[in-house]
Amino acid sequence: MIIKTLELQNFRNYDALKARFEKGINYIYGENAEGKTNILEAIYFLSLTRSFRTSDVSDLIKKGTGFARIFAEISDNNSTKRIEITFNKNGKKITINGKNVAKISELNSLINVIAFIPKNTNLLKDSPKDRRRFINIYLSKFSNNYLKILNVYEKILKERNDAFKAYNINRTLLEILTNQLVELNKQIFMFRKKFIDEINKYISDIFKEVTKKEKKLFVEYKTFINDASSIEEFIKEEFKKVEKEEYSKKQTLIGVHKDDFEIYIDDKNAGLYGSQGENRMSVLSLILSLYFLNKDDKPIVILDDILSELDHNHEKNLIDYLKTFNQVFITNTAKSEYFDGKYYYYLKDRELKEEE
Ligand SMILES: Nc1ncnc2c1ncn2[C@@H]1O[C@H](COP(=O)(O)OP(=O)(O)OP(=O)(O)O)[C@@H](O)[C@H]1O
Ligand SMILES: [Mg+2]
Repeated sequence: MIIKTLELQNFRNYDALKARFEKGINYIYGENAEGKTNILEAIYFLSLTRSFRTSDVSDLIKKGTGFARIFAEISDNNSTKRIEITFNKNGKKITINGKNVAKISELNSLINVIAFIPKNTNLLKDSPKDRRRFINIYLSKFSNNYLKILNVYEKILKERNDAFKAYNINRTLLEILTNQLVELNKQIFMFRKKFIDEINKYISDIFKEVTKKEKKLFVEYKTFINDASSIEEFIKEEFKKVEKEEYSKKQTLIGVHKDDFEIYIDDKNAGLYGSQGENRMSVLSLILSLYFLNKDDKPIVILDDILSELDHNHEKNLIDYLKTFNQVFITNTAKSEYFDGKYYYYLKDRELKEEE
């Protein structure tokens, strides 16, 4: 699946933009603040109905206007579909081929986007919460069920914490909630473990493609659960161990809501000891691993501003490697001497043009 056309209306700095894209690498270049990232943000929004840089959709609406619209034609080998998202500060309306979409999950099967943006360089140094968000966003793209279970987990966790804080603690209720949490912990653990195991199949090879260095990369899932023969029994035991402390602290002390992950380059923890470049390369390899998880429909890859941060060899290796991907959007403030593709887009005066 690729994006063939993109239209923006009142989106960020665009009044009205019409662009045509191709298979392979779409290299967008232009000066600072011309609107390059805004285009990538719109593409990301089509897939995830959220932005990678704000949680407030009002930020996406052009100042002085009341609504924004993103329209795209996406095609695979057999068909073309039209996706339209119109939104204002109160809500969104999504249509596919003119028909209203009730559930955002309907978009999931249609358009898949993975993105590397500059702030991802620090993912391994950020808080565990940021890394959990990363896993949750992409894992929910692979499974609607995961998102559902995660929402139930959050709800039960809150109920359980509230139950601890009640004036008269209801032990029967707490026991029921604990049992529910045991099951939900198990399910979320299994989803995350499988996801990380899959990533580990690809991450070293990708790192090698871009760095030409023979290193072993490994994503280590950090969780309180041990991959024991009976996961359920294990979790129950762990809850028993902390029971007293939970009653005295009046809150749930263990659970997958505290999960985390680390990346090791050979035996070195990249987040702790890696250089800025190694961090960037390991997170990039992590994100590009997601490309291979979807066997049938390859995601669209978005890389914002990455080339400016790379040395010449890495720039060349990355561009060569990206040629093997289905559709890639890459932004930079200048052309690259290593990019020999036909399709450059030039953003002077906020107009997206093809360049010879
Ligand atoms: N809601 C909005 N209304 C109007 N303009 C906006 C809005 N949000 C952002 N902008 C403007 O959009 C412009 C382009 O932003 P964008 O981040 O896409 O630039 P860029 O080309 O990626 O630049 P850089 O090379 O610095 O990354 C900025 O000048 C910004 O002020
Ligand atoms: Mg930018």
